Amino acid sequence: MSIDQPAAAPARTSTLAVVGAGSVGASVAYAAMLRGSARTIALYDVATAKVEAEVLDLAHGSSLAAPSTSPARIIGGDDVACVAGADVVVITAGARQKPGQTRLELAGTNVDILRDLLPRLLEQAPDAVYVLVTNPADVLALAAARIAGLPDGRVMSSGTVLDTSRLRWRLAERLGVSSRSVHATIIGEHGDSEFALWSSASIGEVPLRQWTDPDGARALTDAELGDLEREVAGAAYTVIAGKGATNLAIGVAGARIVEAILSDEQAVLPVSTPLSDYRGISGVAMSVPSVVGRGGVLRRLEVPMDDAEQARLEASAAALRSAQRSLGL
Ligand code: LAC
Repeated sequence: MSIDQPAAAPARTSTLAVVGAGSVGASVAYAAMLRGSARTIALYDVATAKVEAEVLDLAHGSSLAAPSTSPARIIGGDDVACVAGADVVVITAGARQKPGQTRLELAGTNVDILRDLLPRLLEQAPDAVYVLVTNPADVLALAAARIAGLPDGRVMSSGTVLDTSRLRWRLAERLGVSSRSVHATIIGEHGDSEFALWSSASIGEVPLRQWTDPDGARALTDAELGDLEREVAGAAYTVIAGKGATNLAIGVAGARIVEAILSDEQAVLPVSTPLSDYRGISGVAMSVPSVVGRGGVLRRLEVPMDDAEQARLEASAAALRSAQRSLGL
């Protein structure tokens, strides 16, 4: 008896291209290799010696990485053709924050770099999902979406995925629980006006504001929550002051987003995309909880917010609009 097997669907490719072989780009590629985020990882940069050395350094470890999947193929170089056919393109190229410098202060320089770079990337990878990591990530996501003219959701930035991870780590440390059981999210600008959605935060099924210490007292007052939020919003400045840049955590955050896209995970992540009448807000890209899959952002979730959170979302939008205005965005 012959059982007619349905024709096998063509295997989906799983190619990540990382643009920029600086510390952030190399960290995204390294994290993706370790996590098995992509079958092929291409690293592109105009700095020939640097990118070739990073590709070699990654490839040398590839046979030992990602024990649960087959080793990633590591390629790259200084020819933009190395991103050809990529399914996801992560852009990290650009100037980075100096100690004490805000992300928004990088807007002019990095939007100019993007205006030159993106059309050449689109020629090589017209069907890719684009993830901006370069700062100011929200402003660049908006600029990239307008330059690329791709369908909604195909251009995003890593947004506050990293900030949310910082918050979850900090709350886990303070409360003595796994960070995987901390359901709390940072939204808005990936920057100084970001804020936590405290009204919907929980530890497991317990609302955060009802979480008690072993002695039965409320664990975190609203004032303490405010202190934690400010600590998270200032975290990058702290790391930059100590080591000159942040790269490791943003590398993992970038790999996590890549995984959700390439595996069509439909994961809810606070990535940043251009908003259109999201709780009345349009004309800026900001992080809100979004469903991420193969096509990029498939849906933005209208999460419940109290009046204070709505006001902060609008304040974050205003901060970004002010930065965009000077760039004609
Ligand atoms: C940070 C950079 C990626 O927050 O903006 O570390």
